[in-house]
Amino acid sequence: MLLNVTNLLSGYGNVRIVNDVSFSAAPNEIVAIIGRNGVGKTTLMKSLVGLISCAGGKIEFKSTDVTRMSAAKRARLGIGYVPQGRGIFTRLSVGDNLRMGEKVGNSSSSKNFDRVFEFFPILKERQNQKAGSLSGGEQQQLSIGRILVGSPELILLDEPSEGVQPNIVQEIGRIIRRLRDDEGLTVVIVEQNLDLIYAVADRCIVMDKGTIVAELTANELREPDVARRYLAI
Ligand SMILES: Nc1ncnc2c1ncn2[C@@H]1O[C@H](COP(=O)(O)OP(=O)(O)OP(=O)(O)O)[C@@H](O)[C@H]1O
Ligand SMILES: [Mg+2]
Repeated sequence: MLLNVTNLLSGYGNVRIVNDVSFSAAPNEIVAIIGRNGVGKTTLMKSLVGLISCAGGKIEFKSTDVTRMSAAKRARLGIGYVPQGRGIFTRLSVGDNLRMGEKVGNSSSSKNFDRVFEFFPILKERQNQKAGSLSGGEQQQLSIGRILVGSPELILLDEPSEGVQPNIVQEIGRIIRRLRDDEGLTVVIVEQNLDLIYAVADRCIVMDKGTIVAELTANELREPDVARRYLAI
């Protein structure tokens, strides 16, 4: 397994949000995490990347215990994080956003830029433009591109379809599959858009009230309404 999470506990102050979460992701796998608003998906992601410290449990990445490691070190080890709401700097140029990604990750060669520009040609065309002037779909490409610059092995994506038009969601799905198929990356994706989940996920974990309540195989995911039932209010 590339990522192994065991009995993880985390939250804010004394408030426990993530409660006894265990799951793993194999190399080259796309694991989806679904769950209603406020169940703790983002809190889990922040705990995995080190933006929130864990109260208990264990996170192993590439067989290294990273549970107490700083976010910066985890990033250099190869954990890339695309936060909910994208985390790009709208007043900076596309190029400057990518250069900042380079500082976070573990590599700084211009080869990485070429690779990202090859992956997302639109970012090359727009590199001198302000990031805020890009469309929602292009901004999402930039948010992934700036993580790719740092050569991650694992990418954590928090609701990439949020705030993009429905016709762009398919494009995001293609991008995520290319991350796995062409770049050999492992992806953990938090999503509420089931069409996107169906399009990309090898496996799906269902969260409720901070814990994992179900795990769906690719076959179960293909059955109509199984995942939808878990998201229903
Ligand atoms: N910085 C914070 N301080 C205290 N509580 C927080 C903080 N951020 C989130 N919470 C609380 O933690 C719980 C889980 O929030 P979280 O953002 O992890 O949920 P989520 O599943 O990502 O929701 P959404 O689908 O809306 O993004 C919520 O009750 C939320 O109010
Ligand atoms: Mg969230």
